Amino acid sequence: MTLHLLTIIGARPQFIKAAAVSRAVALRGDLHETIVHTGQHYDANMSDIFFEELAIPRPDHHLGIGGGTHGAMTGRQLEAIERVLLDERPDMVLVYGDTNSTLAGALAAVKLHIPVAHVEAGLRSFNRRMPEEINRVLTDHAADMLFAPTETAMRNLAAEGIAPGRCHLVGDVMYDASLFYRERARMPEWFPGLGIEPGEFVLATVHRAENTDDPARLSGIMQGLAGCGLPVILPLHPRTRGRLRDCAIAPGPNVRITDPVGYLEMVWLEANCRVVATDSGGVQKEAYFFAKPCVTLRDETEWVELVESGWNVLAGASSRTISECMQMRSVGLTGSLYGKGDAAKTIVHLLQAQ
Ligand code: UD1
Ligand code: UDP
Repeated sequence: MTLHLLTIIGARPQFIKAAAVSRAVALRGDLHETIVHTGQHYDANMSDIFFEELAIPRPDHHLGIGGGTHGAMTGRQLEAIERVLLDERPDMVLVYGDTNSTLAGALAAVKLHIPVAHVEAGLRSFNRRMPEEINRVLTDHAADMLFAPTETAMRNLAAEGIAPGRCHLVGDVMYDASLFYRERARMPEWFPGLGIEPGEFVLATVHRAENTDDPARLSGIMQGLAGCGLPVILPLHPRTRGRLRDCAIAPGPNVRITDPVGYLEMVWLEANCRVVATDSGGVQKEAYFFAKPCVTLRDETEWVELVESGWNVLAGASSRTISECMQMRSVGLTGSLYGKGDAAKTIVHLLQAQ
C-alpha cells in the first residue's frame, strides 16, 4: 500500500535534512511525499538555493509565513498547516529539528489525529530559555515515531518517560547529507579574491537568539573573532547582520563578512578551513564530519558527544576564551558518532513498516 507522507519544512537546516530523506523516499515506489514549506526562511539564499542545489522536490504548498514574534509566527503556521492537512489527509506527517515550523506542524497534525514522525528527536540543551528547547520537548511528546540521531538522545527520551517502542536510534541525516554532497562541494567564486590560503582560515557562523539579541554577547563574539590571529570567513545570517547594524558593532579587520552561502559552498568552506567557530547546531556536527575542531559560541550544546570526544569546545561569548580556543588543533577521528550514513534509508524503511 502506498503511504502518503506529508513533510513540513521551513528553515535552512530543515531543507538539508529533508534533502537526504526525500532522496531515500524517491528511491522507493511505495511512498508518496507531499512537501509543505511554511515560508519561515524566505530569502533566496536562505531557501530557494537549497531546493535548486540539492534537488529537493518543489514544495506542493508554500505558506509564506515568516517573520514576527514566536507566538504570531507559530500561530499563523498552525492555522495554515491545519488547512493543508484537512485537504491532503496524509497518513503521516514528518517534521524535522526544533524550529517554530516543527512545532506548528506537529501540533496541527496531532490535533487532527494524524500520526507524527520527528526526525532529530531527543536533543536537549536543558536550557528552557531557548525557543528551540521548548519546540523540541513539545514536538517529541506529540510524536508517534521519534527518530533519534544518538544514544544520548535516546536516553533523554527515556528519561522523559516516552514509550521506548516509539523511539528509534537511526543515526543523523546530516551525516548522510555530508557524505553525499562532499563530492559536489564547490569553492565560492569570491574565495580566490580574498587572498586567503585554504586551510588557513576560521569559518564562523552566528545566528542564535541568545547571541544576536544580547549586545554584550554579540560584541564579545565579534571581539573574539577579531582577536583570534587568523583570517575569519563569516557567512552571515540576516538576523545577525541586522543586529550588528543596530548595535553599531564593527567586525575586526581580519573578519570577512559574506552573504549566507549555499550548502555546496558551505561544505567546501568546512572542508577547507582550519577551525570552525559557530553557534549553529548543524555546523558543529559538520565540523566533525570534515575532521575540523569546533569552537562553539554557546554555554551549552545538545551535541555533548562532540565535547566529550575533544572535537568541540564550549567557549561561550567571552572574547578571550574564544580567541584562545581558536588555537586548538584536530585530535584525530575515532569512529563515527552519528551512525553509518544510512539514517535516511532507515527512517523511510521504518515509516513504511509501521
Ligand atoms: C530559526 C530557528 C533556529 C534555527 C535557525 C536556522 C526558531 C525558533 N528558530 O532561527 O532554531 O537554528 O532558524 O537558521 O524557529 N530573516 C530574514 N530572511 C530569512 C529568514 C530570516 O531576513 O530568509 C530574518 C528576519 O528578520 C527574521 C529573523 O531573521 O525575523 C529571524 O528568523 P527566524 O526564522 O525567526 O529565526 P532564526 O534565527 O532564523
Ligand atoms: N549553512 C549553509 N550556508 C550558510 C550557513 C549554514 O548552507 O551560510 C548550512 C550548514 O552547512 C548546515 C545548516 O545550514 O547544514 C545549519 O543551519 P543553521 O546554522 O542555520 O541552523 P541550526 O543547525 O543551528 O539549526
